[in-house]
Amino acid sequence: MDVQKIREDYPILNTGIVYLDSASTSLTPEPVLEKMLEYYREYRANVGRGLYKLSQRATEELEEARKKIAGFINAKPEEMILVRNTTEGINTVSLGLSWEKGDNVVTTVTEHHSNYMVWLRVAQRFGVELRILWPDSRGVVPLAEVEKKVDDRTKLVSIAQVSNVLGTKLPVEEFSRIAHDHGAYMLVDGAQSVPHLQVDVRRLGCDFLAFSGHKMCGPTGSGGLFIREEVMEEVEPLLLGGGAIVDVDTASYRLEEKARRFEAGTPAVGEAIGLGAAADYLKKIGLEKIEAHERNLTLRIYEALKAIPRLRVHGPEPEWKVGITCFNIGNLNPHDVALFLDSVADVEVRSGLLCAHPLMREVLKEPQGAVRVSTYLYNTQQDVERFISAVEEIAHAFNSKEKGGTVKRG
Ligand SMILES: Cc1ncc(COP(=O)(O)O)c(C=O)c1O
Repeated sequence: MDVQKIREDYPILNTGIVYLDSASTSLTPEPVLEKMLEYYREYRANVGRGLYKLSQRATEELEEARKKIAGFINAKPEEMILVRNTTEGINTVSLGLSWEKGDNVVTTVTEHHSNYMVWLRVAQRFGVELRILWPDSRGVVPLAEVEKKVDDRTKLVSIAQVSNVLGTKLPVEEFSRIAHDHGAYMLVDGAQSVPHLQVDVRRLGCDFLAFSGHKMCGPTGSGGLFIREEVMEEVEPLLLGGGAIVDVDTASYRLEEKARRFEAGTPAVGEAIGLGAAADYLKKIGLEKIEAHERNLTLRIYEALKAIPRLRVHGPEPEWKVGITCFNIGNLNPHDVALFLDSVADVEVRSGLLCAHPLMREVLKEPQGAVRVSTYLYNTQQDVERFISAVEEIAHAFNSKEKGGTVKRG
């Protein structure tokens, strides 16, 4: 993988920043921007409505994008609902299934809020029991824990394939098998996996998978929700209105079939077309190459951080991880560390509770949260070295101060 060549697609990197916050949102490459501009400049019209040429072209381009986005995770186009982000995808499922008192829903304590709060609401609103899976000391949820908590009253198991805090990759295909053995649905939160790994919904055996386009080189306001064809009619659409219907009379309506039934209202056309281009872009480079590149960078980060006294690295060893590393230095506030990295070294990382309050407080026992460094295809070894040097500097200053020495900036 020619990273230097890839970096030419991201003019924002010419400013000299080291961007290590791609788990939050990725940068957008020129081919994606160009494809979006093409829509706005050449065929800016609504889709699925007009009979004139411009509208026909916009509709064709949107459907072509849907094919590319679906193909990216080995789904059929009619199973790919275009949404704004992972959060919207998971909410669609949580509010669309018909819950009954006595059902239970199974998730983990390591989830992002977007895959946690929705189940709290389902529990509160419908009398559903929320069952929480706990990870082992490496941050991995053991199969035995899943087997123990999933039973014949489980309606849904909902788990992130990759944790946004620990970077842990979970064997969700095994979890799917257990869910289906009990007649439950399986939802995979793919926000941190789809951008970085070759994800195949058939291999995972899931019923639902949600992901965000803005984390995979696509525009903000773009994302996908896969719903397996066979269970699509078991989910009530979140929104009703124009574009999602076959017919309406004064007393009733008939919804469109498949994905379009979930897409009431004018979609984010330019964004979806941009996401189609992003799927093409990543596929051309190759997800396996991207994963291998990130694995190398993550390994170096992990080993360097582990060697720093009084620095705590959270989560499992690198072989279980995908591109994400979280850490704390002594009792330093993670926000101070992130601000220092930005102001002194132009290194951009995330800090705080990372939309995972239960995990931070109950598992990691880090009430202030942590610092998160996350990589992507455009990051280099030099980026990583600059980050490591700056962290070493902070840790050294902190350790000297703790020992009663003077703090010097090198
Ligand atoms: C694991 C996970 N799930 C869900 C989300 C929510 O994604 P979005 O804000 O794009 O809806 C994120 C975002 O960081 C995430 O990391």
